[in-house]
Amino acid sequence: MSHTLYTASVNRVQRCELAVPGSNPDFFEKALKSGVDFVFLDLEDAVAPDDKLRARKNVIEAINDIDWHGHGITVSVRINGLDTQYMVRDVVDLVEQCGAKLDTILIPKVGVYSDVYMVEAMLNQLEMQQGLKNKIGIEALIETALGMANVEDIARQGACGRLEALHFGVADFAASNRARTTNIGGLNPNYPGDQWHAAISRMTVACRAYGLRPIDGPFGDFKDPEGFKAAAKRAAALGCEGKWAIHPGQIELANEVFTPPPAEVEKAKRILQALQEAAAQGKGAAALDGRLIDAASERMAKNIVTAAEAIAAKSA
Ligand code: GLV
Ligand code: MG
Repeated sequence: MSHTLYTASVNRVQRCELAVPGSNPDFFEKALKSGVDFVFLDLEDAVAPDDKLRARKNVIEAINDIDWHGHGITVSVRINGLDTQYMVRDVVDLVEQCGAKLDTILIPKVGVYSDVYMVEAMLNQLEMQQGLKNKIGIEALIETALGMANVEDIARQGACGRLEALHFGVADFAASNRARTTNIGGLNPNYPGDQWHAAISRMTVACRAYGLRPIDGPFGDFKDPEGFKAAAKRAAALGCEGKWAIHPGQIELANEVFTPPPAEVEKAKRILQALQEAAAQGKGAAALDGRLIDAASERMAKNIVTAAEAIAAKSA
């Protein structure tokens, strides 16, 4: 192991993150009872320009009045982009009016680390001004060619501050790259494989290098549970910890994919046990079910057991 080690500063269970438009308060109560780990109340792309100010008010009211934490839900707000006239007031009003109950801010279309820095600096000042005891985290959407080109730098510098997670925003990423599709997160039959693989993999590596959570973004076809699950499984196989739901029907699917199944946990525990027994005999490696296991197997198995324990603790 390198002597340089970046570990997660905040751990949160984030198997699924439900996107809830700030302009639709009718959805807030449904989100509360949905069984999701994380919600983001949206001020950005799901809200029309004429609704921006009303949505901001709705979101502040929802954070103050609804018991998200009591329902085991981490609450985030997706603010408007740094290139809009809304973003500064989004951050100021949120922290001044509901900062004590806000867990994270999700910044869309982050292109360079300075985008994160600006929000970080604002949060530092506003939290001091409000005398807040909690520290609001930052999450960033990697969804532009520029953001992906700078993803390692964003992760490395952001990890020294409040940045906790990066999300892959497949729709804007497709637009930014002029990928030939209008389908959010689905596979393009003209591409022999998964056209999002390289991008998700790159973002995931940047996250894991610097102690951040990698989260996969939306899948637009909410009538295609199999397509959603397949996309979630591909993201999980690469190391993502969770995926967005843009419809409540996708929550259970994501929870299922990102919860290690009992057989996997059992196998991981058997690996740990077998290696302990091998160590007692002075051996570093062993055979289990006809396969070699060694110290790297132990690290993989521990990841599974730790994830399962965190999920179990949250559900308890
Ligand atoms: C999410 O914001 C996306 O663009 O996919
Ligand atoms: Mg987007």
